[in-house]
Amino acid sequence: MNAFNKKTQKHVESFVMKHILTSLFLTLLSINIAVAASGDADAGKTKAATCAACHGSNGIGASDTFPNLAGQHSDYIVKQLKAFKSGDRKDPLMAPMAAALSEQDMADVAAYFSGLPHDGGSQDSGSASAGTSTSSAPVAYVPNPAAGKSLYELGDASRNIASCIGCHGSEGNSEVLIYPNLANQHPEYIAKQLMNFKNKSRVNYAMNQFAGNMTEDDIADMAAYFADPAAVANVVSRKIMPAAPITDEVIAGKAKSATCAACHGADGNSPVAIYPKLAGQSADYLIKQLQEFKAGTRKDPVMGPMAAALSEQDMLEIASYYSAQKIAVAELAGSDIGKKLYFGGNVKRKITACVACHGVNGKGMNKAGFPTIAGQNEAYLKAQLMNFKKGQRNNDYNTMMQSVAAKLSVSDMDELAKFMASMK
Ligand code: HEC
Ligand code: HEC
Ligand code: HEC
Ligand code: HEC
Repeated sequence: MNAFNKKTQKHVESFVMKHILTSLFLTLLSINIAVAASGDADAGKTKAATCAACHGSNGIGASDTFPNLAGQHSDYIVKQLKAFKSGDRKDPLMAPMAAALSEQDMADVAAYFSGLPHDGGSQDSGSASAGTSTSSAPVAYVPNPAAGKSLYELGDASRNIASCIGCHGSEGNSEVLIYPNLANQHPEYIAKQLMNFKNKSRVNYAMNQFAGNMTEDDIADMAAYFADPAAVANVVSRKIMPAAPITDEVIAGKAKSATCAACHGADGNSPVAIYPKLAGQSADYLIKQLQEFKAGTRKDPVMGPMAAALSEQDMLEIASYYSAQKIAVAELAGSDIGKKLYFGGNVKRKITACVACHGVNGKGMNKAGFPTIAGQNEAYLKAQLMNFKKGQRNNDYNTMMQSVAAKLSVSDMDELAKFMASMK
């Protein structure tokens, strides 16, 4: 049941996680670079004439093997063009095309394609002959779009496949610039890229892991789903674990959490503003914090001794219990300034948008170790941002939070904390 009390498994996972984090981190760094050369869509239109043969003059690929570029995020397009040019991403057709482009050309054509309507503005091509497609799939297997949707939206924790929706958005409409849109992409192309990630001929640590754990049938299911997402009714998961399973750990954890209740609340909804809510927080994140309080790598005079008394098994059980509880969030006014900073960051001041790691709904990203911050107590949020800024809290991998917090003013932190506390 619990993968994470097996030592070796854990080492493998933390190894994989570091790579995911590194690759995310590098991707995030490249945002600022990409934004630096701002593109001119009109100039891009002229320059894109050479691309039209394959990607269509409306950005809709001329055939299944040519990806749609219409409405794709410009940062993502630029990143891919650079990768083709440097040889990090290999394709015999695209290598010479990209080699001929300067950084300005890349920014211009990206601005042009990203401004085109997702469906190419008109009827044709785009959505490949619905349903059946996935051209060269093994004959025996009939792809199941509902299974594809289920895997897309829920992932499969038992096989270490993250849900795709967290990064690529609802029906493939990604709201985060560094994650490509998959909506309206050719299903054949999606299947081909997943196979490329699976066999590592295309390198991205996060995608290599998820696709690596997918079977060819999963990939065929995923392509079938994207052939026409609107046609797939709401599905109930098949092989997927429910979000908060009542396990033996959860039951044992409830009893063991009695000593924590005074400060964190019996159900993890701490009644005191300076004590964090633990309800609904990711179990992996909670375990990491408890281990670090115990080791002293996260310092707190109250939590240090509390954690010192816990065994690894206690931590697992208590974390499982709290993570299975529902966070209670009151109706709060929030903050428009905080909201803008959370979703948009600030390019001039080089502040990475919080949404990139903590997610559209503030629910974080369990697999990558990004905690839930939605509905957390405001005073606690503010205190943690200040701790990261001063370096008093420095248990974040790759100084991810410290380097973001370093750029925040006190009033930024006030507004951000107000906004995050109001997120549901
Ligand atoms: C001769 C056909 C051809 C031409 C011309 C061409 N491309 Fe491509 N392009 C491809 C193919 C094939 C792929 C998919 C490569 C793969 O499977 O990894 C691709 C992929 C891409 C991607 C990655 C898309 C994604 O979703 O990851 C971008 C961006 C791109 N092309 C931009 C351009 C631009 C800009 C031009 C014009 C300067 C251009 N291409 C001209 C064939 C072409
Ligand atoms: C942690 C975030 C994350 C998750 C979760 C995730 N992806 Fe991705 N995905 C990415 C990133 C980042 C890229 C771009 C990689 C690059 O720059 O080459 C990508 C690229 C892709 C591409 C290639 C798109 C193109 O235009 O070339 C496909 C297809 C894809 N992902 C499908 C999936 C599927 C299916 C799942 C769920 C099983 C999934 N992804 C889960 C982050 C994620
Ligand atoms: C006397 C009050 C008190 C008690 C009792 C207490 N805590 Fe805490 N806890 C705190 C405070 C204060 C913090 C914030 C520390 C900081 O500022 O870094 C905290 C932080 C935490 C965090 C980090 C949360 C996050 O979002 O990063 C975890 C996990 C945690 N406590 C778990 C527990 C567990 C499990 C117990 C019982 C074994 C417990 N606590 C008992 C006061 C308490
Ligand atoms: C590059 C990814 C990344 C970005 C961008 C990011 N964070 Fe974080 N954040 C993290 C990680 C990782 C942690 C947990 C560190 C640890 O393991 O203790 C964290 C922790 C936090 C915490 C403490 C949560 C707790 O329960 O103790 C707060 C508050 C927070 N982030 C707010 C923000 C805000 C506000 C922004 C935008 C200004 C932001 N973060 C941007 C990765 C990120």
